[in-house]
Amino acid sequence: MAEIPTVDWEDLRRAAVDACTRAYAPYSHFPVGVAGLADDGRVLTGCNVENAAYGVGLCAECGLVCDLHNTGGGRLVAVLCVGGDGQALMPCGRCRQLLWEHGGADCLLMTPTGVLPMAEVLPQAFGAENLRA
Ligand code: THU
Repeated sequence: MAEIPTVDWEDLRRAAVDACTRAYAPYSHFPVGVAGLADDGRVLTGCNVENAAYGVGLCAECGLVCDLHNTGGGRLVAVLCVGGDGQALMPCGRCRQLLWEHGGADCLLMTPTGVLPMAEVLPQAFGAENLRA
């Protein structure tokens, strides 16, 4: 079994802040950037991409999971999401579910008050094992 890479949170923050500069947020004016570390050490990123049909807008985390799969797949082991101020931002409920699917209970999330495992960010989550039950 491959070793879980060490998390360089400053590196993830830089990547998330950089991704945030590419956000397309002409409606909310609320740019979001996210960076994630994959279990093989890759750093993936995403930014929010809004739409004139507001409900069609994509959160930054959607881009992150696309980047994960489009560059080789694997699992997320750590994620950091930032707003335009560069500070850690909590993912919305839907995006917590996305992170659960692609990182699971042990994936670490940098929150405004420190690092938490997804098990605490999305307690009693619905996941693939429920479909098998
Ligand atoms: N947003 C994200 O990109 N990720 C989140 O987890 C929370 C919200 C975006 C969606 C929208 O483009 C903007 O932030 C304001 O809600």
